[in-house]
Amino acid sequence: MSAVKAAKRISTPQIRARKGQEPIVCLTAYTTEMARRLDPHVDLLLVGDSLGMVIYGFDSTLPVTLDMMIAHGAAVVRGASRACVIVDLPFGSYQASPEQAFHSAARVMAETGASGVKIEGGEALAETVRFLTQRGVPVCAHVGLMPQAVNVAGGFKATGRSDEEARQITHDAEAMAEAGAFAIVLEGTLEPVARAITETLPIPTIGIGASPACDGQVLVIDDVLGLYSEFTPKFVKRYAEIGNQISEAAASYAADVRARRFPAMEHCFLPKSGGQSRS
Ligand code: KIV
Repeated sequence: MSAVKAAKRISTPQIRARKGQEPIVCLTAYTTEMARRLDPHVDLLLVGDSLGMVIYGFDSTLPVTLDMMIAHGAAVVRGASRACVIVDLPFGSYQASPEQAFHSAARVMAETGASGVKIEGGEALAETVRFLTQRGVPVCAHVGLMPQAVNVAGGFKATGRSDEEARQITHDAEAMAEAGAFAIVLEGTLEPVARAITETLPIPTIGIGASPACDGQVLVIDDVLGLYSEFTPKFVKRYAEIGNQISEAAASYAADVRARRFPAMEHCFLPKSGGQSRS
């Protein structure tokens, strides 16, 4: 038996207990290798339905299916041993009823090994959050700019600009906390509104285009790495330009192949001195 103890995974109650403490570090991940690389550095890995846009090339998150989320959720869990992994329930898999939400969440939990799910929606989804948490499914809520509601909102726009919008987001966040969510993502929300919600809410807020005062921050990994070329939202800070490196690598490979510089003899299987070749 190995003397080295496996690192214990951060749990949703531990994330909940970080309210007002050291900031919660969260990034999205969609694949095993990316999860492996991010795991030592983050507290929370979110398998976001943003994968519909950054991996699959859809122009919104609406076409993402539960099967897609399960496949990517399982891949991320395989790559992460320390971070808490949460999987988004996609559009149409939970809004119809608490029972539908439970059925979808149960599949995610059983088939991926994730520690919880995230759902978009405020007050109107509070009953669903209560139903899930009372049946063993930890829920991270998501309010403010809700990409699955892009057609109702009329675009990906920051919210909380009017008093009425600010009141609604605050009310949505309170309803989700009261229903039992362990944390809440605040997306595209005016800074003072996100700050005020963070100050009064009993659960951690995780901001994206929200406020430095939030209890944690999340970004889409492809944005952070400069891998998504469609557009870069104002709230993104790019920490690398991997997209450019991919283009440069592909151009160098193409030039080598065309000039017959690749493969070189070192990349070829040569006969052994006895005349045998290794396949
Ligand atoms: O889908 C996603 O990646 C998200 C984050 C942007 C919070 O919901």
